[in-house]
Amino acid sequence: MNSITLIRPDDWHLHVRDGEVLNDIIPHTAARFGRAIIMPNLKPPITTMEQAVAYQQRIQAAVPNGIHFTPLMTLYLTDNMRASEIAAAKQSGIVHAVKYYPAGATTNSDAGVTDLKKTYAALESLQQHGMPLLIHGEVTTPEIDVFDREAVFIDSVLQPLLKDFPELKVVLEHITTAQAVDFIQSTSKNIAATITPQHLLFNRNDIFKGGIRPHYYCLPILKREQHREALVKAATSGNPKFFLGTDSAPHSQTAKQNACGCAGIYSAHAAIELYAEAFEKNNALDKLEGFASVYGADYYQLPLNPDKITLIKEPWQIPQHYQFGNNTLIPLKAGEMMQWKLT
Ligand code: DOR
Ligand code: ZN
Repeated sequence: MNSITLIRPDDWHLHVRDGEVLNDIIPHTAARFGRAIIMPNLKPPITTMEQAVAYQQRIQAAVPNGIHFTPLMTLYLTDNMRASEIAAAKQSGIVHAVKYYPAGATTNSDAGVTDLKKTYAALESLQQHGMPLLIHGEVTTPEIDVFDREAVFIDSVLQPLLKDFPELKVVLEHITTAQAVDFIQSTSKNIAATITPQHLLFNRNDIFKGGIRPHYYCLPILKREQHREALVKAATSGNPKFFLGTDSAPHSQTAKQNACGCAGIYSAHAAIELYAEAFEKNNALDKLEGFASVYGADYYQLPLNPDKITLIKEPWQIPQHYQFGNNTLIPLKAGEMMQWKLT
C-alpha cells in the first residue's frame, strides 16, 4: 500500500503548554488533527470555565490561517472542585471532560487530588451530566515500583471508584500494560482508554539503549515488550474502547536533559505518521481509521470530522530539534527517517 486516506483524525489527549511556545507546536497538531482534548496541567492548572475559555482562545490564536482546528478543553480536578463548576462546564459546550491527576503523579500535578472521596460531589455531577473523567492511572505511593503503578492503580483505586459510580464515563489515559488492556475489555462501554504512539512502538529497553535516553522518558513509563504487544493488539483489534491519544508532552531540551529530567515525549510533529508505522508493522493499516478518527469521536458523542487526510509512502527525516520559545524541543525519533508522510 502506498497511500492511506483517513477521515481526519482527532487527538484525544494532548499537552500544548501556554504562551509563546504555542506558536511553535500548535501547527504540528493542527496540520494533522481536526480536534484535540487539551490537558489542563498548566501552572496554575485550568480549574474554571473562565480559565478554559481564555486558554482555548490563546491556543486558537496559534492555529495557522486557513486551518480548522478545535481545541476541546478540560478542567483539572482538585479536592475542592464544586459540582456547580461541572454543570457550568457541561453547559458551555467548550469543556468536554475533567482530568484526574493523583497529586504528585507527574508534571504539574501538585494541585491534583489527594483523596478521591473529597471529589465525590464533583464526580456525582460528572456522572449525572455524562461528562467523561479522564484518569492518569498511577498510584503515587513511593513504596510501589514505578513499573507497577498502573496495575496497582486499577485494582486499588479504579475498581472501587467504578463501584461507587457505576454510570460514570471514564477514559483511562495512555494505558501501558496488559492489565489495563484486560481491564478495559472487561468493563462496560462507558469505560475506554487512549493509547500513545510511544507505547505502541517502544518498550522500556529503549530508555536505556547504549546510555540513558531522556527523550524516551514519559509517565506512565514505557513497560516490558509483552505489554507493548498487548497494547498493539488492543489498538489494532477494532474494539472501539481503544482510541488515539498521543499524550504529546513538550518540554524544553534543557528541562529534559537534566539531572532531574521532566517526564514527557513530544510526538505532535509526526503523530499520525507514527501510528501508521505501528499499525503497518502489525499488518493492521485497515484498522487505523477506526482507532484514529472514529471511536474517540463516538465516545465523546461528537460528529466525525468532515474532511480527510492522506498519508503517502515517502521517506522523510524528522528534524533534530524544533524551536520552543527561546529554547529547543527534541522530538520523538529526532533525526530518524519516517516512511509515511502527510500530504
Ligand atoms: O510524561 C508525561 N508528561 N506524563 C504526564 O502524565 C504528563 C506529561 C506532561 O505534562 O509533561
Ligand atoms: Zn498526559
